[in-house]
Formats: sequence, C-alpha cells, structure tokens
Amino acid sequence: MTIANNISLLPYNTFGIDVRAKVVAEYSSVTELTELLQRYRGERLLAVGEGSNLLFTGDFDGVVLVSRMCRAKALKETETEVWIEAESGLKLDELIAQLVDMNLTGMENLSYIPGTVGASAVQNVGAYGVEVKDVIEQVETVEVATSRTRVFTNKECHYGYRDSVFKNDLQGQYIVTKVVYRLQKGGELHTNYGGLKDIQAQTAQEVRDAVIAIRRTKLPEVGELGSAGSFFKNPIVPTAQANELLQRYPAMPHYVVEDGIKIPAAWLIEQCGWKGKGLGGAEVYEKQPLVIVNRQHATASDIMHLAQAIVDSVNDTFGINIYPEVNYI
Ligand code: EPU
Repeated sequence: MTIANNISLLPYNTFGIDVRAKVVAEYSSVTELTELLQRYRGERLLAVGEGSNLLFTGDFDGVVLVSRMCRAKALKETETEVWIEAESGLKLDELIAQLVDMNLTGMENLSYIPGTVGASAVQNVGAYGVEVKDVIEQVETVEVATSRTRVFTNKECHYGYRDSVFKNDLQGQYIVTKVVYRLQKGGELHTNYGGLKDIQAQTAQEVRDAVIAIRRTKLPEVGELGSAGSFFKNPIVPTAQANELLQRYPAMPHYVVEDGIKIPAAWLIEQCGWKGKGLGGAEVYEKQPLVIVNRQHATASDIMHLAQAIVDSVNDTFGINIYPEVNYI
C-alpha cells in the first residue's frame, strides 16, 4: 500500500489536468482496500482506474483510491467456454491481448480502449458493435460503508449505454475489485460494424489488429495528447424528430436502435463547424470531433466551457441535447 498526501493528480487522469488531491492511496489487495476504507471513513472517496473517462473540475478534497490489483486467472471451463476472473487494476487492453493469444473470443472488439478492468465494469465500455456487458458474468465489489464483499450478477449491474448501477443508484457506494468475464473458445466474431466490415477478419487476432489500426487513425494516443476518449454520448432521438431532421439534412447518418434513432454526435458537432476549433488550451479533435483534447495546458474550465459551447450550438442547430460521457468530478 502507498499513501501520498497533497499530491498532483496529473498521473491519475488521461486529460492531463493538473489539480491536487488531499490523499492518493494505492492498494494491492482487498484486505488493503478495506484497511483504507476504515482509515478514511467519513472522507470523500473516489475510486479511479487509469482516469481515462473523467474530468477533474478542481482540486479533490478527499481520498483517491487506486487499485494496483492486477492479476487474472481462469476460474472454470467447459468444452466451448472459459470464465476469466480479472482484478480491477489490470489494464483492459493487457487482458484482451492475453485472451486473444489464447484464442478466447468476446472482447477483441474492445481492443486498445484505455482504462482498467474495474472501470470497464462501471462504464460498460463499448466499441465496434460490442459492449463489455455482453461478456460480464459477475462483478465483485467491496461496500464502502461496511467493507463487506458483495457480488453483483450481470443483471444486477443494470447495464445501459455507457451506464451501470454503479454510476446511478449505487454511485460511490461500492468499489469494484474483480470482474468475471465469460469468453468463448474460438467463438463467433463480430465484424458487422462500420470500418470492420471490409476487413474480413478470420481470427480474434485479426479483429484485434484491425480495431487497433482504426482506433489509431481516429483517436489520440494516451500519453501523447490528453483526452478522455469520446467526450459525449451519441444521442437517441424520437423517430418523428429524426424524420424531420432527415428532410432538412438527407445526408445525416442515423441508426435504428431499440428506443428511437441514434445519431452520431461526431456528425452533429462537425456540422456545427467545431472540428479543430479550440477554446483556451482545449480543442475539438480534428480526426474525431467527439473527442476533446488537451492541446496546450488546458484547464478543466477551458474543457467545460468548450463542451458547453458545443452542447449549445448542437441544440441551437438541431434541437438535440447531447450529454457528456465523461464523468465530471
Ligand atoms: N463521424 C462524422 N465525422 C467524423 C467522425 C465520425 O460525421 O469526423 C460520424 C460518421 O457518420 C461515422 C459516425 O460518426 O460513421 C460514427 O463514428 P465512429 O464509428 O468513429 O464512432 P462514434 O459513434 O463516433 C463510438 C463510441 C466510441 C467507439 C466507436 C467505435 C460513443 C460515445 N463512442 O464513437 O467509444 O470507439 O463508436 O465503436 O459511443 C469512447 O466511449 O470513449 C469511445 C471512443
């Protein structure tokens, strides 16, 4: 366990926001985590993974808890499936690289997404037609108030689009310690999504390689340019509203989903002329306008003002509200 007081959060968020926390505590076991919970009872707590989906809006007057539990092991297997238990601090992409090596399928489409195993289960990360909820069997947690272990089944996690019970009803009440994923041995590949269609991948490794190649052309590399991936969620609008918009904008991309029509926020933002535009040190990424980047020493305030200006102009032009996917802290 390591504990640091009054420390910069720069290494703990991929946006590269230089604010401070009262305490940052790193733990390597569930026992250490429960010790920390007891020690800091009553303090404001924040569990972070790689800090790749959050925006610190100012100094954090509390304790940032960082998981350094990084192991993974097979729990059981059948002829066709393997259950893998991974600890919260393991980088998701390191796990996926190992799974693909073993020809275990189910997560290859999620290759190269920044973030940890623990964060994947909170945020329900997704890409190229797959969401992690599709392969999560259960999520092991520690309850903050009691330090007791609680296991959530997939159903109990109430997964939605970049959403889970851990972001809503139970926000801040549980810390994810382990995730059990259910993978297939050489199962079916999901290659119907956009850019993957043309590639005709035959193996999980080929899908992984293709996904990494696409992501590299569109998204900034963590470590080179600060960002938190997609800043906004793609809005879902009622069918009638989408039809009206399609009369005005026949080229508007759109996808039929369960509860309406999904419109790429990237397209809306691009139409409003934001590509490559900036405010202070923050900028709309020119290769993927859904992403806000820290071009030059951006402050949280630069990023929030830019985000609000984008929200307002998309609303003025299209009458659509878009919402951040990034969690403001
Ligand atoms: N588009 C534009 N202009 C652009 C880029 C995209 O108009 O410059 C439009 C195009 O119509 C394109 C559509 O946006 O077809 C969709 O673009 P893309 O396939 O890149 O995906 P996205 O909807 O922008 C989502 C996820 C990403 C995920 C990709 C790939 C959200 C908020 N974002 O982005 O997830 O990697 O699909 O599956 O759902 C993240 O959550 O941080 C993230 C990067």
